[in-house]
Amino acid sequence: MNIVVGITGGIAAYKAVGVVRALVLAGHDVHVVATDAALRFVGRPTLEAISRNPVHSDLYEGVAEVRHVALGQRADLIVIAPATAHTLAKLATGLADDLLGNTVLASSAPLVLAPAMHTEMWQHPATVANVRTLVERGAQLVGPGSGQLTGSDSGPGRMAEVDDIVAAALAAAGPRDLAGRRILVTAGGTREPLDPVRFIGNRSSGKQGVALARAAALRGAAVTLVVANIDDGVLADEGLPGVEVVHVSTTLELQEAAQHAAGEADVVIMAAAVADYHPESVAQEKIKKETQGDELELRLVRNPDILKELTAARREGQLFVGFAAETERDRDALLELGRAKAARKGVDYLVLNRVGWSEGFATDRNAVTVLNAGGDIVGDADGTKTSVADRILDLVIGDHD
Ligand code: C5P
Repeated sequence: MNIVVGITGGIAAYKAVGVVRALVLAGHDVHVVATDAALRFVGRPTLEAISRNPVHSDLYEGVAEVRHVALGQRADLIVIAPATAHTLAKLATGLADDLLGNTVLASSAPLVLAPAMHTEMWQHPATVANVRTLVERGAQLVGPGSGQLTGSDSGPGRMAEVDDIVAAALAAAGPRDLAGRRILVTAGGTREPLDPVRFIGNRSSGKQGVALARAAALRGAAVTLVVANIDDGVLADEGLPGVEVVHVSTTLELQEAAQHAAGEADVVIMAAAVADYHPESVAQEKIKKETQGDELELRLVRNPDILKELTAARREGQLFVGFAAETERDRDALLELGRAKAARKGVDYLVLNRVGWSEGFATDRNAVTVLNAGGDIVGDADGTKTSVADRILDLVIGDHD
């Protein structure tokens, strides 16, 4: 998306750098429009480095390209953080005496405002009336929160946290077709301990499951994400505001967390790679080669099939989506495996993907085929895990509306 981040002159401008950074890392093209006052609080080089674009502040620069309206016309979303009392007043009146005012007036994109000011200013009837006008016109407000302000005072007026601003901004720009749904997503790969320092595991990074949780939350769903052993970076990179995250490690822990969350869920998406077996016994001390010799025998016992148990106990109207990661190279044989698995697990949809030494796991891209309960292909998706997540949601939930 092309996003304009408007920064106005409040001390919270330093936190706007975090908003810009999060939007850039989420893959968006971010253009900062800063007022002169904002640039007294945060430096242009910082904003240019973080946004990876020139910072615009002067109404009389770039006149040949009609920049005073072009930025607004091109924007898919405008976020103003912080929005001072003065800026709210200007926007409510429709003044265009600076570049930000022009940009907002020239745009029909969603407008998200993160006000920041002292409590007295926020509660002044003038500001209250301006905010009401802006909200009635469709602007979306995020915050302000209540807390410590710049001086020794505290109260309402503190700018919302960066994550909340980013979540509100992305949600304002995207479709809200999953509002009111409760979705459980599992992600990552379970690990079965052998001894205090070793485990049997798999190479699932959890990226596809995390992308699904994020996409569902952005589309308005209430999401619980049960994650098994994924890197902190995968969660942080994605930024998961609005998602309740539950951490587990073993298959039995995943089972307990999934059963708990599935009770409430309308949709269950089992993207986690679950270990099929666990060691019959876990050594309490490190297993030593000195005592084991040249061969080590491990006795493994079957884990419960979590998904099969969940579908067997399904509530009326609940929707189940399973995943199948297979190494089979022949497409027809792969589809046959998928069809058999969809039937065996009792799912409504099965997301089938090929995995291998360099495919599927850990990468940022994925290619999947989605089958329905009868084994028919309902669609394919090929692209970044983020785009694949949205397509999967379209295919499995879209047609149930
Ligand atoms: O049987 P297989 O592991 O190929 O099935 C994959 C699907 O079943 C995935 O959705 C996975 O999360 C789920 N599964 C499970 N419990 C297991 C094994 C797999 O829920 N023990």
